[in-house]
Amino acid sequence: MKNQEHRPKIIVTGGAGFIGSHTVVELWNVGYEPIIVDNFSNSQPWIFDRIKRLTSKGLQCFHIDCCDEEKMEQLFLKLGQIIGIIHFAALKSVNESIEQPEMYYKNNLNSLQTIINLKEKFNIPDLVFSSSATVYGAAEQLPVTEDCNLKPATSPYGETKQLGEKMIREQLETGAIILRYFNPVGAHPSGLIGELPIGVPQNLIPYLTQTAIGQRDSLKVFGTDYNTQDGTCIRDYIHVLDLAKAHIAALTRLLSNRKTDVYNIGTGEGHSVLEVINTFEKVSGIDLRVKYTNRRAGDIESIYADCSKASLTLKWDLKYTLGDALKHAWQWEKGLHETKAEAA
Ligand SMILES: NC(=O)c1ccc[n+]([C@@H]2O[C@H](COP(=O)([O-])OP(=O)(O)OC[C@H]3O[C@@H](n4cnc5c(N)ncnc54)[C@H](O)[C@@H]3O)[C@@H](O)[C@H]2O)c1
Repeated sequence: MKNQEHRPKIIVTGGAGFIGSHTVVELWNVGYEPIIVDNFSNSQPWIFDRIKRLTSKGLQCFHIDCCDEEKMEQLFLKLGQIIGIIHFAALKSVNESIEQPEMYYKNNLNSLQTIINLKEKFNIPDLVFSSSATVYGAAEQLPVTEDCNLKPATSPYGETKQLGEKMIREQLETGAIILRYFNPVGAHPSGLIGELPIGVPQNLIPYLTQTAIGQRDSLKVFGTDYNTQDGTCIRDYIHVLDLAKAHIAALTRLLSNRKTDVYNIGTGEGHSVLEVINTFEKVSGIDLRVKYTNRRAGDIESIYADCSKASLTLKWDLKYTLGDALKHAWQWEKGLHETKAEAA
């Protein structure tokens, strides 16, 4: 294990969030010094203690809004040589973005512009940007490849991802990798970090684990009449640690080829909502209370990734199954519940 002072520094914006925290741990494990920048608008400061338990007591975290270019510049000056930035910091709720579009455009686009400006100003070689499968909308072909046509965004959130990709391509011909994530799920196998939704979860897995623990009355399945094997929607669920490792692979790729490029990061396999529920029941031994309701506006029927580009070019592959991801998410939920019970 390298000493702190010999580790190349990587800025991780949004590093206290779900995907960021797992990526910070992986960066540390392979010899980088990740430095977290987060405004805690969608994360809890106590998660940083957990991250330190998985990495080092000396890990640094700065409570800064990435849209504040002056403060970010002061930080970059103070930190000295930085070899890369992974930019996770963004607001991510589709529904909230429809209710409060201005907040989404401001936060997601201004923070990215700050990062691009500072990358150029400080000559930081590499940037990895979090995009999303939402850019494909209802894809014309499955599995979806990176060269499929992008569809006009159906939410301000989706639009910030499309515009974000465009900003990177127009302003950075080299030194950037855009990763289009499919559905990140799971948690760290230690049970110390995981997804921490504020309020009612928007995503299937945290809603499911909160139902299993008794925090929610029942799990709603939106639509059972889709043209899929069991009538429910199909998504590509990827374990958050496999996703975290894709960021390390992207940084490694940029060392040998600096051309700006884009990659799908999923598993290549689609699973229906009912398959997820059945797998969860199997790994947890719990019978979920499920309510079947009508389709939800805006949901697409089926999407899953073709990840052959990432697997061949980034030399990245998967370690975890859907069952592992659900087992780890359940372990995390139970741990959270125990922590809350102790604090009460
Ligand atoms: N989780 C998903 O399903 C998913 C899917 C596709 C893409 N993404 C993208 O991946 C990235 C990370 O997602 P996540 O699931 O970890 O989300 P998250 O909300 O758990 O983490 C994002 C972090 O960024 C921070 N943040 C937001 N705006 C900030 C700002 N202006 N300055 C500093 N910190 C700020 C939040 O406090 C939070 O800790 C986001 O860009 C998201 O849009 C997520």
